[in-house]
This record gives sequence, C-alpha cells and structure tokens, in this order.
Amino acid sequence: MSTKRESLWSKHRILETNSILLLLGILLVVSIGGLVEIAPLFYLRSTIEKVPGMRPYTPLELAGRAIYVREGCYNCHSQMIRTLRDEVERYGHYSLAAESMYDKPFQWGSKRTGPDLARVGGKYSDEWHLQHLTAPRSLVPQSIMPGYPFLARAELQFDDIAMHLRANRIGGVPYTDEQVANAAADMKAQSVPDDPNGEAFSKRYPTAVARDYDGNPKVTTEADALIAYLQVLGTFVDFKLYDGKANIR
Ligand code: HEC
Repeated sequence: MSTKRESLWSKHRILETNSILLLLGILLVVSIGGLVEIAPLFYLRSTIEKVPGMRPYTPLELAGRAIYVREGCYNCHSQMIRTLRDEVERYGHYSLAAESMYDKPFQWGSKRTGPDLARVGGKYSDEWHLQHLTAPRSLVPQSIMPGYPFLARAELQFDDIAMHLRANRIGGVPYTDEQVANAAADMKAQSVPDDPNGEAFSKRYPTAVARDYDGNPKVTTEADALIAYLQVLGTFVDFKLYDGKANIR
C-alpha cells in the first residue's frame, strides 16, 4: 500500500537529460564559487600588503615598461621569482605581491626562454644593457635573444605620457595631479643630465635616479626609457632589512 517516496535525487534526472539546463546549472554553481572567492579581493584593503620602498614608476620608467610590453619581452622573460630554493639562489629574494602593486598589468609571465628579470635592476651597467639590447651575441655569444638596435635610434614619444600616468591612476596607482601635469617634463629631466627641471623632478620622485641611460645625452630615446625601467626592476624593496621575516610590513 505504501508508495515509496521518490528520492529528491531523482529530480537530478531533469538536469541529466537536458543539456541546456545542465549547462545553466553548472554556470550557476561555478559563478557562486567565483563570487565568494574573487569578489572580496576587490574590496579588502589587506589584499596587498604595504611594503616600504615601493613607489610608482617615473614617467621615463613607465614609458620603458610600455616598450617592454610592445616588444614582447615577456614572451621570453618572466618577472616572478618563486619561493623555490634554486630560484632564490639564482635570482635573489622571491617576489612579493606588493612588488607588482603598481604594475598595470603585472609582468609575471609564464615563459622563461631567457632568465627571470624581476631583480635584474643594478645587476649590469647601463652600457651593458645598451650593448646587449643592440647586439646580444656581442656579449653572450650563445644567446638566442633577438637584437633591438632600433631602440637607441628611436626618439621617445612625449605627447602621450601624461595620459599614460592618468590611465594608471584610474587603475589605482597614486600619481598626484602635479606628477600627471609634469609627466613629459619629468620624462626629459630623468634622461638628460643637468636638465633645468632636474630638481623639480627629484622632488616629485625622491628615490628615482636621473642620468643619461643610453650614452646619448642630446636625444631621449626608447633605449633610455627601457634601460631606466630595467635598472629599477626589483630594487625598490631593501631585502637586507627584512631578511628572515616571513611577514613583511
Ligand atoms: C626569443 C626570446 C627573447 C626575447 C624576445 C627577449 N629576450 Fe632577453 N634574453 C633571452 C635569453 C635567451 C637571454 C640569456 C642570454 C643573454 O644574456 O643574452 C636573455 C637575456 C636578457 C637579459 C640579461 C638577463 C640576466 O640576468 O643576465 C636582459 C636584461 C634581457 N634579456 C632583456 C630583454 C628585453 C628588455 C627584451 C625585450 C626588448 C628581451 N630581453 C627579449 C631571450 C629573449
């Protein structure tokens, strides 16, 4: 007399026999997981810990970074030192999330045809970089890196750098109005020794270094910008101060 109650799970048959419903169900479940895991990251202030020393790129470094992206350097170079012992011994302290906080977008990369560049700043002289970018095999005979000899000949474009800073500011990089307004002047000041604007530049970017990066003080070239960028990679945080402390604040 008793009719066996149909189990709730038998309703699952409806999903299993209708692919569109099943697809919608999967999307629903996956999006709940996404919302719970990803959405808070946009609101939590503690997502990226503050590390002393981190500063936004100067206009010249930012322009160099754009050239790095334009030339596809990231196709062969990562900028992310993992916590593995062999990486730390080869490249230096593993990368902190905070070191990418002003990189829009970050350049971690996933392909290492060449070495990781996260800490290449200060490893070589400007002259080395210029020569290496122009003709890699003149310094490293077995290198398979392509040469970029045109960078030292190409004059750097000045007219869009303020927009570039502004776009970064929308993405959360704390450039001031003054830094945006003086972006082009600062870009020149950092690449030309004894520029009349040099002092004002140093006030706006106290820890940045102004010098002629490409051995050609008369023209600010794309090589100036790219080398200025390479020379600051991984140099903002002083790891000697923090060594051994897992939680850096
Ligand atoms: C086809 C792959 C490839 C591309 C693209 C490439 N590189 Fe390289 N890069 C290499 C290889 C391989 C080496 C190691 C041999 C050498 O030093 O030349 C290297 C070495 C370097 C080094 C020296 C790193 C060190 O620690 O010794 C720097 C700096 C560098 N590349 C910068 C760049 C920049 C900047 C660009 C873009 C303009 C670029 N590379 C594009 C493959 C590449």
